[in-house]
Amino acid sequence: MGAAAAGRQCRSARGGGRAAAQKKLPAGGGRAFLGAMAFKHWPLVRDVRFAQKCGRYLRGARKRRPDLNWDEFLRIARHFKQDDMGSFPERGYLYQLASDAPVDAQVIEVGSWMGASTCFIAGGLKGPDAKVYAVDNFQGLSTCGEDAAWYNRHFRQLGSNSTLEIFRANFAALGFTGRSEPVVSDSLAAAEKLAAKRGTIDFVFIDGDHSYEACQADIAAWTPFVKRGGVIAFHDFGSRADGVTRAIFEETKAGRFAEIVGVAGTIIAFRM
Ligand SMILES: C[S@@+](CC[C@H](N)C(=O)[O-])C[C@H]1O[C@@H](n2cnc3c(N)ncnc32)[C@H](O)[C@@H]1O
Repeated sequence: MGAAAAGRQCRSARGGGRAAAQKKLPAGGGRAFLGAMAFKHWPLVRDVRFAQKCGRYLRGARKRRPDLNWDEFLRIARHFKQDDMGSFPERGYLYQLASDAPVDAQVIEVGSWMGASTCFIAGGLKGPDAKVYAVDNFQGLSTCGEDAAWYNRHFRQLGSNSTLEIFRANFAALGFTGRSEPVVSDSLAAAEKLAAKRGTIDFVFIDGDHSYEACQADIAAWTPFVKRGGVIAFHDFGSRADGVTRAIFEETKAGRFAEIVGVAGTIIAFRM
């Protein structure tokens, strides 16, 4: 998900993510208060909207990919009912990419926040040794000014400066603990720490720092980890995070990726 200027360019298109393991806390400030009180956040309205949107998505998904376990997807989606870091098509696509990975696949995610996308990936994996390395500073540290401000607002509401415990609680609640390994680190430092895994990873998902420079650096750092024939996917392609879009375009033109695997919402996936 460099030194970007603060502002709209690097902000990803999303609202206030909140994982199931979080307590609902009062937001600070008048606008935040009105936002939290919005009709769509009322529990009954939220549940009806969830049932409608998820049901609609699943009807199509079950037709398109009848071979996948969509009941498991639904179980994870229910857990993250209050999280809006991604749409159903995006969550479903991550689940599909993970389901299509080989048995005991090794996955790296850069930018995990509270673990919603990570859990959709973990849920699709198969085999006792399948694993997702979840790389994140878990402190919302980002060179992307608008992102950092958004994370800071969340940390103030949480009364904490880390999402690591929430990430762990979400994994435990879904029974996925054995499938994840949080790597508490800056992305590029993690790429150095995990250097021994270069060329061994089946699937990399990048959703960390959304500035142009950082996305470019992430592509350079993480593509060497993907096995030949493996997949690398990015969130926020074509979103308001136009630095991400530009970096991916440039790398595509430069022939960094072998082919496009698919697009869903703002996720784009390539084969290496
Ligand atoms: C948009 S959130 C990830 C959302 C998550 N993928 C999901 O869909 O639920 C981006 C995350 O990237 C992390 N991050 C940003 N820049 C980073 C960097 N340079 N190194 C490690 N993590 C970073 C932030 O801490 C934040 O948790």
